[in-house]
Amino acid sequence: MQIAIDGPSGAGKSTVAHCLAQHLGFIYIDTGAMYRACALKAYRSRLDLEDSSAVQTLLDQTSIEICHEQGEQVLYLDGQPVSAELRLPEISRLASDISKLPACRNKLLGLQRELAGRQNVVMDGRDIGSFVLPQADLKIFLTASAEERARRRQAQLQEQGITEDYEQILNELLYRDRQDSERKIAPLVQAPDAVLLDNSHLTQQEVIDRILLFLQQRGLLQDIGYNYHQKQKTERI
Ligand code: DC
Repeated sequence: MQIAIDGPSGAGKSTVAHCLAQHLGFIYIDTGAMYRACALKAYRSRLDLEDSSAVQTLLDQTSIEICHEQGEQVLYLDGQPVSAELRLPEISRLASDISKLPACRNKLLGLQRELAGRQNVVMDGRDIGSFVLPQADLKIFLTASAEERARRRQAQLQEQGITEDYEQILNELLYRDRQDSERKIAPLVQAPDAVLLDNSHLTQQEVIDRILLFLQQRGLLQDIGYNYHQKQKTERI
């Protein structure tokens, strides 16, 4: 089974997708991390993104592997695990820049489809429902207002002891929204058959409850032996 969750930066896709995958016993695949890995490689190599043949050569020499260790996705870039570095602000921006380039998208598309073909997955990104997995069993387009996303991002950073200006966070989000939505190849777009969920005023639990309900209404939970009514009575996620 394939569940696709797309939406703009900071909409809470990864938290929801991760939690849902754990609950259903599926594999969670964070495709943004793959674009971030390409960005990290470009950053380390001081790659000029304007030079398309240098981009192609560098990406041809780059290995990206995804493993799951104790239910967590671990990304190996050229054989080395990478995690915290992928979340640096300069890598976020560069990931949005490099993800516009055909060499980068072509490299990752095959890997994403192959991973989703092997097991039950919840995959999040920008183009999963619209392009990577057009036959996904359920497609969710998860969004929230830019102001709410910026507030949440600021609170997350504060929890990590990092103080950042709200306006700066908001501008950075808007920049990435624009760039991800306006690019020519596989832009951020709601697939026609995706369900829109605006979580500006919903808790994470409410978002997950709604997704479980959509799965139940489509008869998909029975296919994986999940007893919706029993779980609703006995368990909160
Ligand atoms: O979800 P994220 O913030 O980790 O994604 C980082 C960047 O990668 C994002 O700005 C756009 C790009 N991306 C993409 O183009 N397609 C995807 N399926 C996932 C991410």
